[in-house]
Amino acid sequence: MKNTTDQTGCMVAIDGPAGAGKSTVAKAVADRAGFTYIDTGAMYRAVAYRALQAGLQVGEDDDAIGSMAGELAFEFVTLDGSRQLMVDGEDVSVVIRTPEVGALSSPVSAIGEVREHLVAAQRQMAESVPVVMEGRDIGTVVFPDAQLKIFLTASAQERARRRYEELVAKGEQVTYEDVLAAQRERDDRDRSRELAPLRPADDAVQLDTDGLNAEQVVERIMQFLSDQGEDR
Ligand code: DC
Repeated sequence: MKNTTDQTGCMVAIDGPAGAGKSTVAKAVADRAGFTYIDTGAMYRAVAYRALQAGLQVGEDDDAIGSMAGELAFEFVTLDGSRQLMVDGEDVSVVIRTPEVGALSSPVSAIGEVREHLVAAQRQMAESVPVVMEGRDIGTVVFPDAQLKIFLTASAQERARRRYEELVAKGEQVTYEDVLAAQRERDDRDRSRELAPLRPADDAVQLDTDGLNAEQVVERIMQFLSDQGEDR
């Protein structure tokens, strides 16, 4: 692969449904390439978290949730080697991972004004540094000109199993069936919404991760990145 230090603005977009392994893979690709890792789902979760805190209801208070999203200052920082999301100076990395916030983040992310503010913030984050950005609409809306677009998929059962194991490891009281049902609901909503629905960009490389471990997926992406560097 070419020298990565002169690739300011270089973008690797990693999209896909919940639990396809985007975070693990995107973090590892960013580490290896020396790019900055940005988890856009965390930003939608943070808006959902703040809406819950403020007692705002999706469907009733969408305008207020939209304006609030525009006032939040998002910053990703590396603390003790892991990436944390700061919102107005508060580290929200742990509180945004509860099933409650996860479930609410999907309808919150369907509010147009929320998307407008978050997409603008995401574009700004990639202005001066090369990034690996993961989400649902990075290759289709946020960076349609990204150098490399990956769409990660895996079967619904495999994705729910991974998410279930993650939650159990964190001490959450959940059942596999509940995780699968919540994931279905979220994916259906994310795919069928009017604004920036979850779908692969026409020029995305689709990678099915069933039966592949994270290392194998990362290897493939690094190979695509290196092939692209040679083409440029
Ligand atoms: O990746 P995640 O599960 O943390 O994302 C939380 C929610 O945010 C998910 O239901 C879809 C939404 N999202 C989105 O609409 N666009 C993105 N770029 C990232 C996430």
